Amino acid sequence: MLLSIEHVRKSYPGGRPVLNDVSLTLEQGQTLALTGESGSGKSTLLHLVAALDGFDSGEITLDGGPMSPLDDAARAALRRNTLSLVFQQFNLIPSLTVAQNLSIHARLAGRDNPEWITHLTERLGLIDLQDRYPENLSGGQQQRVAIGRAMAIRPRLLLADEPTGNLDETASAVVLDLMLSLVADTDAALLLVTHSTEIASRLDRRAHLTGGCIE
Ligand SMILES: Nc1ncnc2c1ncn2[C@@H]1O[C@H](COP(=O)(O)OP(=O)(O)OP(=O)(O)O)[C@@H](O)[C@H]1O
Ligand SMILES: [Mg+2]
Repeated sequence: MLLSIEHVRKSYPGGRPVLNDVSLTLEQGQTLALTGESGSGKSTLLHLVAALDGFDSGEITLDGGPMSPLDDAARAALRRNTLSLVFQQFNLIPSLTVAQNLSIHARLAGRDNPEWITHLTERLGLIDLQDRYPENLSGGQQQRVAIGRAMAIRPRLLLADEPTGNLDETASAVVLDLMLSLVADTDAALLLVTHSTEIASRLDRRAHLTGGCIE
């Protein structure tokens, strides 16, 4: 089991719990679509799995290691070595070129692998765009760079929060296909948040978040 979420409860200061009792597992190489109404806590859950935020009770276990005892340094190490995130808003660094954006995370993690980056650049159709800056790219192109940056560390787990939410249908299909094929090639697992039943139907499994629980 790569990821195990057990009875997780999460509330923000002063508020009622957003997640009441969430349990979910994900095997290595599996893809899972997380759906749910706006405000149901999908991004919150993704942030917990990404070790970006703590939870009130329950446990999240990644690759056999429970997250709750981890300090900030150990959480950062998880994000450098084991998991990566792709967001709806791409979040590229505007002052870096495509090539620099692609390699920045792997480089900072001390896991620079030029051959793998070259492979990703080709696979993502970014060869001719390498020297451009993000502001001169279309949304679909920016998201392809963001996927390459996330995959550059060869994560065991890719987390994606509505990665096609800002794209038109054609670009969205391209981005989803690329993400699924890269994940399959590297035997990574994918936890993807989406509002689209069409996208959800392309993944191995589906989970629906409602009332703070997985249905
Ligand atoms: N940092 C925060 N502080 C307080 N409340 C928050 C915080 N982040 C999110 N919330 C609240 O938690 C609930 C769940 O938010 P979350 O962003 O996880 O929903 P979501 O399912 O991702 O929604 P959407 O589909 O619109 O992206 C919402 O009521 C939101 O207002
Ligand atoms: Mg969200």
